[in-house]
Amino acid sequence: MAILQILAIPDERLKQESQPVTVFDDALRAFVADLEETRRAGPAAVGIAAPQVGRFQRIVIVDCSSTRKPVPNHGHLVLVNPEITAWDGYEMGREGCLSVPDYTGNVIRATRIALKAQDPNGNPLELAMEGFEARAVQHEIDHLDGLLFIDRVVSRRTDLFARKVYRKGGGAAS
Ligand code: NI
Repeated sequence: MAILQILAIPDERLKQESQPVTVFDDALRAFVADLEETRRAGPAAVGIAAPQVGRFQRIVIVDCSSTRKPVPNHGHLVLVNPEITAWDGYEMGREGCLSVPDYTGNVIRATRIALKAQDPNGNPLELAMEGFEARAVQHEIDHLDGLLFIDRVVSRRTDLFARKVYRKGGGAAS
């Protein structure tokens, strides 16, 4: 396994749209293992998306089980070709991102979502989730479409916050 280099703003590649995965082979699963090792390194983000390491395929990892937010979650999820099929409610929440190391921001996301995806073996997944986990998945899927949370803040003047230190386990970094 290997820790991969994370692209950070203003790298233009973060705006690239990722392509669906069509081959579910050992090479894919080896990449997923590297992506997971990269997520767990450094500030241990709750999520990571393949394009953040320069691989423009629709793969994300989310794991909200170790955060301090007392909300239901599915634990460690590898989502290949994830697609949100239903949204309900909305709420503002603070987000961070490995690719935006110097800021956090307030972003409006759906409170509850339904999701279709595949696992790394190509098996279909259907999930319903809410709150912090739903937020994390929406954040990661945005990466697959070339969007960052800073593209979604209502006002960069009032909803972006500088941070001096990227604290380990200190937020919804993804
Ligand atoms: Ni992110």
